[in-house]
Amino acid sequence: MKIAFVSSEVVPYAKTGGLADVAGSLPKFVRKLGNDVKVFMPKYYSVDEFKYHLNYVDLVGELKVRVGGFPHSAWIYHGKTPGSDVDIYFVHNPHFFHRHSIYTNDWDEDERFIFFQKAVIETIQRLGWKPDVFHINDWQTSLIPLLIKKNYNWDRMFDHTSTVLTIHNVGYQGAFGMQAAERAEIDPKLYAPGGPLEHNGAVNFLKAGILFSESINTVSETYAKELLTQEYGAGLENVLAYRSADLFGILNGVDYSIWNPETDAHIPYHYSMNNLSGKLENKKFLLEKAGMHFDPDVPLIGIVSRLVSQKGFDIIEEALPDLMRINAQWVILGSGESRYENLFSELAGNMPSKVWTYIGYNNALAHLIEAGADIFLMPSRYEPCGLNQIYSLKYGTVPVVRKTGGLADTVQDWNEYNALGTDAGNGYSFNDYKAYALAHAVKRAVNDFHNKPVWNKIIRNGMMKNYSWEKSASKYNLLYHKANSKR
Ligand code: ADP
Ligand code: GLC
Repeated sequence: MKIAFVSSEVVPYAKTGGLADVAGSLPKFVRKLGNDVKVFMPKYYSVDEFKYHLNYVDLVGELKVRVGGFPHSAWIYHGKTPGSDVDIYFVHNPHFFHRHSIYTNDWDEDERFIFFQKAVIETIQRLGWKPDVFHINDWQTSLIPLLIKKNYNWDRMFDHTSTVLTIHNVGYQGAFGMQAAERAEIDPKLYAPGGPLEHNGAVNFLKAGILFSESINTVSETYAKELLTQEYGAGLENVLAYRSADLFGILNGVDYSIWNPETDAHIPYHYSMNNLSGKLENKKFLLEKAGMHFDPDVPLIGIVSRLVSQKGFDIIEEALPDLMRINAQWVILGSGESRYENLFSELAGNMPSKVWTYIGYNNALAHLIEAGADIFLMPSRYEPCGLNQIYSLKYGTVPVVRKTGGLADTVQDWNEYNALGTDAGNGYSFNDYKAYALAHAVKRAVNDFHNKPVWNKIIRNGMMKNYSWEKSASKYNLLYHKANSKR
């Protein structure tokens, strides 16, 4: 099948979170299953055509993409993803995409991604490459099924093209004022109150994606169920319930060519399940970098995260007095809301021998923390899948998580499993989204850290797990066929 995979971020070109990891690896596994895959993304400032050997696509030429009645130029670049050789196309327009960050709060954020989506459709028309399936991701690409069925339905090319929408995070919906629909030049009937594009008085891109796609999935089985509840559906639970027959959960995989302690290009010491000595060396290296003293009896707790409320930082804040009484050291890497950036910067400033904070985005450091920390903390309020806890398992860094979404599907609580009569646990989890529950889980982990036979068993249980993409990619393949049979 021909699959057009469209994403607003793709590793290694541009990344703010896990979507980029998924978009950078899933397509190559889908291709291995015999599909013809082309990836599409915007050409942000960070996408250097020389570094990535990109070429201007003459065959497409300059596109004039209409947004809100005005034609905007799009120039298309083509490359092959490093290491995997998947075709990737970039939509170039400096006005829209050379901004200070991938996502903005600028007045024309809606316009940027309307332009992107239309440019992708028009590129495909000019390439004369008829996709069987559009695989779209999150709100930034969610208008595509509506656009091909309405705005571009004069082109019979898309008559049998189906869409699979993957929801990576229902917390971000692309909700804009009514002008967004005018900019997209969408039939007013579609955004009238109660129409498929309207939600609570706003234009909602994700809602349109949910209603116009043939199949929908999210990135773990538990989150697929949670999405239908008021607590997790972020207001779209009824819309999703309406499509529940076409809604699936497929757990993300991991690209072990990038995230593997035996080969990781970003860590100084490689190690494996059978020889963990390199892990200890990475810990020493990391602590030295952090300006903290190494003590083999003190566990090092790591956090790598977008600093947003989704990730559980309000309960970490509340639990801090309790957490800081534990004999442990902390390394925290993240950026996001200034409230949390300040909190962790101040914490490190007040306790420099105990806490080190790095505010910003730093890929190499993210790898080093996975390798050097003993425990990884991820107490999310909600987590569609979560990749860092899966990386942690492979790096022998024991995850402590809240039991929700993909965290619930990948982390098995050591004590809970013991009570069930098995020693298969690979981490610690807690149910209640409460500071005390979080602190209790961290204390359980720290206690077991001192019991080496138990700790080594937990580490091994995690490192043995295999979350490579093969299994999940074949589930996507089935979903493509399912979607395709509907049009
Ligand atoms: P989300 O997509 O919600 O942010 P995931 O766990 O799925 O959560 O993926 C987060 C990805 O982003 C991981 O690959 C993680 O290493 C990376 N990441 C998050 N924050 C940073 C940061 N400050 N520096 C480097 N990498 C980061
Ligand atoms: C989102 C989710 C995260 C998921 C990632 C990739 O950003 O917050 O849980 O792992 O997308 O699917």
